[in-house]
Parts: sequence; structure tokens; C-alpha cells
Amino acid sequence: MADYGMIHRQAGEILDAEPWYVAAMSNLSALLADSLDRLNWAGFYLVRGGELVVGPFQGKPACIRIPVTKGVCGAAVRTGQTQVVPDVHLFPGHIACDSASESEIVIPIRRGGQTAAVLDIDSVVKDRFSAEDAEGLQEFVRIIEQKIRWE
Ligand code: SME
Repeated sequence: MADYGMIHRQAGEILDAEPWYVAAMSNLSALLADSLDRLNWAGFYLVRGGELVVGPFQGKPACIRIPVTKGVCGAAVRTGQTQVVPDVHLFPGHIACDSASESEIVIPIRRGGQTAAVLDIDSVVKDRFSAEDAEGLQEFVRIIEQKIRWE
């Protein structure tokens, strides 16, 4: 089990050192890639002009633009809810950016009342993300929402 207490403290320190979203999201994706096991992708998509555009991440080069009507990331934006997908092959409309992905979690990030971005994490094993992971990562996103600077 990941040490989410430690991850949350480090996330706060990263954002306090530099809240500008490009710098902060770069180090936050590196923190997740370094702290969680069995991942192949960890990073952010930003809502821009009604679609999702890839932001800072760790992993293989990924899909650049995703319509909000598509994929797990789109579902997170449309519903405003965390999406935990234990088996991506069973998720209708899943977008396979890396064929190694087996399971995925996507959490919306709000700015004011709107979803401004999503945190997207992919794993090389099925059923990687437990309820504890979902809670730990939702708290991680709350820290981001409180501290990030979007301009
Ligand atoms: N699988 C995602 C697309 C992004 S990649 O995983 C990095 C989706 O279905 O939305």
C-alpha cells in the first residue's frame, strides 16, 4: 500500500514551492510515478476549448486531444466523478494510448465550480486501484485544487 500521508505532504510542498500549474503538475506527475508501483502512465489532461489536451505527465507519449464524449477521461469530465476502471478492455470507449494499460483511475480537478483538468493514472495490472487508492488520490486532488495557480 502506498504511503498516502507522505504523498500528500510532498504534494503540498511541491505546490507551495511553485503553484504555477505547468511546473506543479510536472513535479506532481513525477511524484506519483515515483511513489506508486505498477504504473505505466501518470499525469494530467487539461480542459481547453471543450476538449481535453494532454498536460504534464510521466510515461510513453500519449493521445494529445480527447473529446469529452470519449474515453475514461471524458467520462470523468461529463460526470464530475472519479472513474475507477478495473479492466480497461471492458470499458466501452476506452482510449488505449499505451497497449500495456490494464486498469485506470481518472479524477476530475475543479477550478471554481468547473472541471478544469483530470488526473489520469494507468497501470500494467488489472484492478490496481483500490478504494484506499481512490480516497488517497482524491485527497491528492483536493490539495491541488486548494493550492494550484492556473495562470
Ligand atoms: N485511457 C484514457 C486516455 C488517456 S491515456 O490513458 C494516457 C481514456 O480512455 O480516457
